[in-house]
Amino acid sequence: MKPVKPKSRQGRAGVIRFARGFRSDILSALPEKLYRAWMAELKTPFFKSIVAKDPALVKLVSKQRPLDFPKSDYLGDGLRPLLGDSVFLTNGPKWQRQRRIIDPAFEGGRLRHSYPLMYDAAQGLLDRLTTGPHEFEELASAYAADVIFRTLLSVPIVTEIAHDIFQEFRKHQAAQPIVNLGGILRLPRWMTRFYRPAARKSVRRIRALITELTRNRARAIADGTAPQDLATKIMTTPDPETGKCFDWDEMVDQVAIFFLAGHETSASAIGWALYLLVVHPEWQDRFCSERQMVSDDFSSLSELSQTRAVFRETLRLYPPVPMMVRETCQSENLRNRQYDRGLQVVISPWHLHRHQRLWDNPDGFDPDRWSTDNGRQCLRDVYIPFSAGPRVCPGAGFAMSEGVLALAMLVRQHRFELCPDRLPQPVARLTVRSKN
Ligand code: HEM
Repeated sequence: MKPVKPKSRQGRAGVIRFARGFRSDILSALPEKLYRAWMAELKTPFFKSIVAKDPALVKLVSKQRPLDFPKSDYLGDGLRPLLGDSVFLTNGPKWQRQRRIIDPAFEGGRLRHSYPLMYDAAQGLLDRLTTGPHEFEELASAYAADVIFRTLLSVPIVTEIAHDIFQEFRKHQAAQPIVNLGGILRLPRWMTRFYRPAARKSVRRIRALITELTRNRARAIADGTAPQDLATKIMTTPDPETGKCFDWDEMVDQVAIFFLAGHETSASAIGWALYLLVVHPEWQDRFCSERQMVSDDFSSLSELSQTRAVFRETLRLYPPVPMMVRETCQSENLRNRQYDRGLQVVISPWHLHRHQRLWDNPDGFDPDRWSTDNGRQCLRDVYIPFSAGPRVCPGAGFAMSEGVLALAMLVRQHRFELCPDRLPQPVARLTVRSKN
């Protein structure tokens, strides 16, 4: 059985039909040809975007000339009230400086330090599971948020402030579901800046809570009592070029993006991985040989090659960030076509990972593919769930560890089945989620 995939739009769509379809779900509003073409133009009287799937073009935009294809302001408009000037939204020298400070916190050695905290969070997830039906996305979300709270700020999700932030993020997601894809449509500025009252309220509350946590941490660093977690590392690392650290205002913006980018994406991936294991129960059996190996020792993760292959395959079929938008800042010749500055360039892991001219069995679930020639080549050239180039996700290694760990722990202790009347249907919200 092939894993669930949204039906693409059939035939041409006028701007109204497209906008309507886009609002309910961009994955099904886009045409089928995107799974075969190397580049496609999305054109209406109001905007023009291209969707790039030619590996050479994706490489040009993400790796070779990333500074010439910055993130578009349209994307920023919708997210800035929540994320301020966080590394996810900035461009140019400001973004480069932020990455120089943030990247060391996610290097390999630090991951080893965070791992026992991830293990505790995974234990917490198991404790919440009882026999019977569960809404798994919700559980995965709580687990991933717990991992972030513990590793970033040394507060488990059961503490009041962490619990409140988590709940407010959920409210925000419900009130402002597609905001980060606004750039694809090049919606008018007033639309991308429009915030529903409920979303405004949740933003105010999230920022107030994060400010409180960050202020407390700044004080603890000054007193010499701060724990050695990711927040302390980031707040005390000077930019090697200027010697300056983040001030705590800037840190509030970074903490906001770590929570958002760090828990929504991982929760989406873990949820879909469990769905895939449920419709392919033979893989739950194949984990048997590995599941006794997982422990609170970081090096145990390297033994879990089958679990890792499943998680990797999940990120191929259901990349949590389905599309990324960049903008040309000068006229460009792309695949022998001339475009003006201001063109939206969409890089779509969703379509790239299921491209019919690149992958064997593109829509099938096959974790063994990673040891075939085709799988290895695609992994190198076109597999980009964490993006690629200098803007690659700094949390990629972190996310792989927490995902593989969660799967191994879950399957070690439980057997999972699908509730027969609840087949999930992928839709693109802030991340790829299930409609039902
Ligand atoms: C399965 C989990 C994850 C996936 C699939 C994922 C994917 C991505 C992708 C595709 C981007 C690039 C977005 C763009 O350029 O528009 C990104 C950026 C980012 N991610 Fe992740 N991510 C995951 C987990 C995490 C975690 C756990 C953290 C932090 C602890 C994190 C922090 C960030 C940050 C700060 C950025 C912005 C980087 C920049 O723009 O320079 N992510 N992520």
